[in-house]
Amino acid sequence: MTKLNVTWAVDRAAMAKLAANHVSAWLLDGSTTSLALPTGDTPIGMYEELSQRCQRGEISFGDTKLFNLDEYVGMSPEDPRSYHAFMRRHLIDRIDASESQVHLLRGDAPDAEEQCRAFDRAIEAAGGIDLAVLGLGANGHIAFNEPGVSWDLDTHVVALDERTRQAHRPNFPDEASVPSTGVTMGINTLRSARKVLLLCAGESKREAMAALLSGREDPAWPVTSLLGHNDLVVVAEETLMPS
Ligand code: GLP
Repeated sequence: MTKLNVTWAVDRAAMAKLAANHVSAWLLDGSTTSLALPTGDTPIGMYEELSQRCQRGEISFGDTKLFNLDEYVGMSPEDPRSYHAFMRRHLIDRIDASESQVHLLRGDAPDAEEQCRAFDRAIEAAGGIDLAVLGLGANGHIAFNEPGVSWDLDTHVVALDERTRQAHRPNFPDEASVPSTGVTMGINTLRSARKVLLLCAGESKREAMAALLSGREDPAWPVTSLLGHNDLVVVAEETLMPS
């Protein structure tokens, strides 16, 4: 059983500020030069805060390497629904990072396996991940590490869980167009990050949050793979606090 330290945010705006405060402090103290970054609704407010702080000259991403966590396989980076496009829209195009600092997984890579190995090599060349910022899926996934996945993997291609496909269904015109495959940083890479900042928001995350708060590692809830991490910071919406 691991005792978790959770900071409860009163609302999404408070959560964005708390998360941005952590990231800013770690950038400023020089401990963070490689970051793994999530997509999803949850981190949008944090990215807004960080972009503004960067534009005001309060923080800089000039010395960082930026990696995204995951992507839909088959989707072109130009597609606005791609995680690639999301990262550019919400952060990368708004901060002082040059192209050479940015490593984004591509859904249209001609050789998916080779892309995974190249991504792992780039992470290794960066000295590993200093900070992994993570969101939480309703089924307990982190990045696209779905329930039951091996916790020993680095970057890999993965079949998306049905619950994940349903959560993403509103962004697609019909059931058949919802991607069924993803590419993701693996749990081994995420657990090797020196610091992990986990952001939990949204009513659909209640069950996954409860699994995390139980303090027991359970392969059915990939987020519980973080329980043994020695520098895990959790920021969660107050509405997810168990009654
Ligand atoms: C997707 C991503 C995850 C993300 C999750 C939560 O499935 N693969 O990396 O954490 O969505 O999304 P949201 O923040 O929109 O709830």
